[in-house]
Amino acid sequence: MPNVANCHPHISFDGKLSIIHNGIIENYRELKRELIEQGVSFKSDTDTEVVAHLLAKSYHGDLLQAMHAVLKRLHGAYALAVCHQEQPDRIVATRMGSPLVIGIGEGENFIASDVPALLKYTRQIVFLEEGGLAQVTREKVELFDADLKPMPFNAVTTNLTLDAAEKEGYEHFMLKEIHEQPHAIAETLRGRVDGEHVDLSELNLDADVLRGVKRIAVLACGTSLYSGMVGKYLLERFTRIPTETWSASEFRYADPVIEPDMLVIAVSQSGETADTLEALRIVKQQGAKAIAICNVMGSSIPRACDATLYTRAGPEIGVASTKAYTTQLVAFVMLAVGLGRMLGRTDEPTEHKLVDGLKQLPAQVQALLDEDIVAVKRCAKRYKDVFNFMYIGRHFNYPTAMEGALKLKEISYIHAEGYAGGEMKHGPLALVEGSFPTIAVAPQGRTREKLISNVQEIKARKGVVVMVSTHGDEEARELADYLIEIPACEEELSPVLAVVPLQLLAYYTATQLGRDVDKPRNLAKSVTVE
Ligand code: AGP
Repeated sequence: MPNVANCHPHISFDGKLSIIHNGIIENYRELKRELIEQGVSFKSDTDTEVVAHLLAKSYHGDLLQAMHAVLKRLHGAYALAVCHQEQPDRIVATRMGSPLVIGIGEGENFIASDVPALLKYTRQIVFLEEGGLAQVTREKVELFDADLKPMPFNAVTTNLTLDAAEKEGYEHFMLKEIHEQPHAIAETLRGRVDGEHVDLSELNLDADVLRGVKRIAVLACGTSLYSGMVGKYLLERFTRIPTETWSASEFRYADPVIEPDMLVIAVSQSGETADTLEALRIVKQQGAKAIAICNVMGSSIPRACDATLYTRAGPEIGVASTKAYTTQLVAFVMLAVGLGRMLGRTDEPTEHKLVDGLKQLPAQVQALLDEDIVAVKRCAKRYKDVFNFMYIGRHFNYPTAMEGALKLKEISYIHAEGYAGGEMKHGPLALVEGSFPTIAVAPQGRTREKLISNVQEIKARKGVVVMVSTHGDEEARELADYLIEIPACEEELSPVLAVVPLQLLAYYTATQLGRDVDKPRNLAKSVTVE
């Protein structure tokens, strides 16, 4: 419960130690009962205060030793920073399942949850390993492993800059990041599609190991899960390896069949999502190889994987993920085609076609944004007060429908559901009436005709349809109440273009409703706790 008593820092019962914490101590209640039985009284109802008192009880002149002793009793996710009256020159910190970074300054050093917080002080960053401890003074930074063995480290110079983390004239970070997509996609492609080939040499993949892969599992959450759903279709098309996509929060509590010949792809913008990290740990313990698709250099998920294909979208500040999503899609196309070529299951003309299509994406997205899509704004204005939106798509654009619905609901708070178009007859068609719109994602591709018949069914029942279709689709123009056109492209690339108007639809709807677009209620940018 947010109130003054629960604010950090928390102070130990002897008044000498203070602590701040990011995460959840899952066994704090039993520890609290034990402390109360020992006569400790509590001022707050937080788990953090429990740790403060445990540290005070374990402190015998060395804060690092006290932290080391207490960690053995904690279960859950935490990033902790602690200082003590008797050692006022130092901060002791540790992390498990929550992010924590250290900034190296000139005659000063810093601790923070993430890199943007340090940018105005330093760009020399040290990433603390899971379970590691740090002792930081003005002059020195020392790292230790979980057994207090000193650990050597190197600071990395982050390429993030403060102004990159500012809005640059846009009203919201989300709109800025939507408009950064042409550049973000170009950056993600840079050096990987020179000439006519996909170059994945940075992954140092072993072709023999790859030939032994019998199954691929994509693990992710939220928007990253939806890019992973597109990734499934791409990987199966180009590598012919059976591929499944899992919500990481489901995977970690299911009884998944994990074999050493399985390749896992963990997708995450932040690289710190607790469910994805835990699911990854489960597969790594059982010997599977793992590749990350991630947007934050040096974050926990890439560090837990054998290789990482970094998206280069730059810092994504808005809670609603946009440029990270489209760059993840681009990364999946490169990964699927590149692996397919290594396995000899994708021919060169196909690779050339996709590489050529990838290279056109930045300009095509820019063209979409330059059109300032009037139909989107009109649609947002017309339907901002409805209580439901339905999104439908098929095959590569079924995940687009899911992602479009998520964008709308997470920032406008309007209920929206994404469906596979083929599912309409199995129930959702009963919902159709004139009071709410259906967004039909129907670009050129093998399932366009089927989507068109879905739209005809909806129109026959007085439903309103917004269509996202390829430029020049006259049938769509006839059918749609609102038509949003995207450039022609290979169907495997259409999710990248089709999602842009859906991002803008969510944005304009939410702003017209006066929502806090960059920080929607109840949500965090990175879900580092369960
Ligand atoms: C998407 O707009 C949301 N912010 C959320 O679903 C997000 O995609 C999810 O929490 C996964 O985050 P990650 O990509 O950092 O792992």
